[in-house]
Amino acid sequence: MLAEPNLKLFRELISNASREELIWMNGFLAGITQSAGQVAVPVKELDAPPAATQVKKITLTYGTETGNSKKLATQFAAVAKKKGIAVKLSGLDQYRLTDLAKEEYLFTVLSTQGDGEPPATAKKFYDHLFEQAPELKQLKFGILGLGDTSYPLFCKAAEDVDTQLEKLGGNRLLDLQKCDTDYEQDAQQWFDQVLQVLANAGSAAAAAPAAAPKKTGHKKIHAGTILANVNLNDRGSAKETYHIEIATDDTVEYQPGDALGVIPHNKKQWVDTILSLAGLQAAHEVQYKDTTYQLGELLQKKLNIVHLPERVVAKYAAIVNQEIPATRIDLVDLLKIYPVKDATQFEEVVGILEPTVPRLYSIASAPSAHSGEIHLTVSRTCFPVNDEKKYGLCSDFLAQLEINSTLDFYIHPNNLFRLPAEDKDVIMIGPGTGIAPFRSFIAERDAAGASGRNWLFFGEQHFVSDFLYQTEIQNFVETGVLSKVSLAFSRDQMQKIYVQHRMYQESEELWEWLNSGAYLYVCGAKAPMSVDVEQALLSIITAHGNKSAEEAKEYLEQLQNEGRYLKDVY
Ligand SMILES: Cc1cc2nc3c(=O)[nH]c(=O)nc-3n(C[C@H](O)[C@H](O)[C@H](O)COP(=O)(O)OP(=O)(O)OC[C@H]3O[C@@H](n4cnc5c(N)ncnc54)[C@H](O)[C@@H]3O)c2cc1C
Ligand SMILES: Cc1cc2nc3c(=O)[nH]c(=O)nc-3n(C[C@H](O)[C@H](O)[C@H](O)COP(=O)(O)O)c2cc1C
Repeated sequence: MLAEPNLKLFRELISNASREELIWMNGFLAGITQSAGQVAVPVKELDAPPAATQVKKITLTYGTETGNSKKLATQFAAVAKKKGIAVKLSGLDQYRLTDLAKEEYLFTVLSTQGDGEPPATAKKFYDHLFEQAPELKQLKFGILGLGDTSYPLFCKAAEDVDTQLEKLGGNRLLDLQKCDTDYEQDAQQWFDQVLQVLANAGSAAAAAPAAAPKKTGHKKIHAGTILANVNLNDRGSAKETYHIEIATDDTVEYQPGDALGVIPHNKKQWVDTILSLAGLQAAHEVQYKDTTYQLGELLQKKLNIVHLPERVVAKYAAIVNQEIPATRIDLVDLLKIYPVKDATQFEEVVGILEPTVPRLYSIASAPSAHSGEIHLTVSRTCFPVNDEKKYGLCSDFLAQLEINSTLDFYIHPNNLFRLPAEDKDVIMIGPGTGIAPFRSFIAERDAAGASGRNWLFFGEQHFVSDFLYQTEIQNFVETGVLSKVSLAFSRDQMQKIYVQHRMYQESEELWEWLNSGAYLYVCGAKAPMSVDVEQALLSIITAHGNKSAEEAKEYLEQLQNEGRYLKDVY
């Protein structure tokens, strides 16, 4: 509450203000108060003239891999429309690049993927900005970045786009807002500021600075105990897929569709070799990012020491003062080829190493069917490097976990991959490890006694050795939980047969399910599987729905907008 003299002043100010001035003041005060704890206001801002009119038209784009950015942009668009602002909402993959130079108000929600890269759907837009470098003199823009602070290049794609748009002549209306995985609140705050700026006739004056992204403290780390770890593939298979059961305590909550986040440990033998090359003991204490660790534990459990990114190799080269070609290489090999001078120089090297990034695994169990446990379906990634057989860090780590050993993990919620109401029909397309969330879905629907029908498409290389969860699936068919199963074993005959081929074969019935309201889910390899499955879907919609290619695309988009076509692909 204001004291009497100030209250009088305030009342006078309000009673003499025009409507536009009131709008400006409202936005201005909100800007100050939203900037937590920040009250210092530059004189320039106080002197800014009152706003004239509200901006009436904006373009809102999103670049997404797993749908979070799209979901936010869609929500924001709906709010803006309610406020009388015309919104052109577009995925960056659909965005006409020739429109950019004509754009006046552009807001973009953009995630970061891979190792600091834009999502595939934003690649064309991103490359256009950097390669074509169009002049964007009339552009006013704001960027919301989605990312994960566990990654060394946090929100890098959004940072790049934000910087480049300004370089190209654009006028930044509000600071880049970077958000961690629990992005909702920061994102909402950013969009409130966007609305404020728009109400302020597109002037950046009243906007509060972007909030600092909250760190990953929200990722609650749980400790689980390994109950079972079995290879589901039989003799003769080219694959190793592990079914892992983890006992959890009561505090672990998840829903079908969620994933488990794991930070893999490095092999002890690698750490021992590094320590001996550095001439240091495991118990030697080092500082890493303001915390003291025992070197052995730091190297084994926290830092990435394999397949180092080129940026780290470049820093290593600077420390050892040697020319090292731009390449990805393991720390052990770097130390062997370009040795450090002494232990002190090695400590410097430790400082440039990056934390190991978490890997996600779809949860294959269901809370109502597997109480107190979490199950995973992990394919042990294998690839050749110079004729040597190597394994992926995390899948190998998980595959080697022994019974009764402990595993630290966190739950990665995925609200964009949820079961529908119990009476709805569900089509699940999940070849390979794509089966994981569907094992969870089916078990959950079974436990709930859901009345909707369930149809599973599964595929692998060979029926005999690679039919993951064969007995369970057959039981679910016998008990009627699975109304239908379509199997595609690609290498059991001369011609390769994949899940999309089974979809074509079942196209009439698939269309009937879809057209009567079924929800369709796809999980597993992003490419080529999910692309081929989508192509098959479009063909089926075209053929059985009597639609043109364009109409089929619209139909599928409509399904997507209704939350009836959901993908969790990687
Ligand atoms: C939402 C989501 C859900 C997922 N669910 C599952 C699931 O249910 N089951 C499952 O099995 N996977 C799942 N994954 C994939 C999983 O997260 C990992 O990406 C996968 O296990 C590979 O990780 P890795 O640590 O084993 O391999 P990494 O060590 O990360 O290697 C990945 C690739 O990098 C290259 N590489 C690595 N090291 C070297 C080197 N030294 N030299 C040359 N090249 C190298 C290779 O091409 C290798 O294949 C999911 C992913 C996501 C995003
Ligand atoms: C394989 C993978 C790689 C990722 N790489 C990064 C990264 O380099 N930097 C970052 O900030 N976030 C990274 N993320 C986190 C995503 O940006 C974050 O989950 C975001 O919410 C995804 O939004 P989207 O669904 O719109 O794509 C990565 C996520 C995955 C699954």
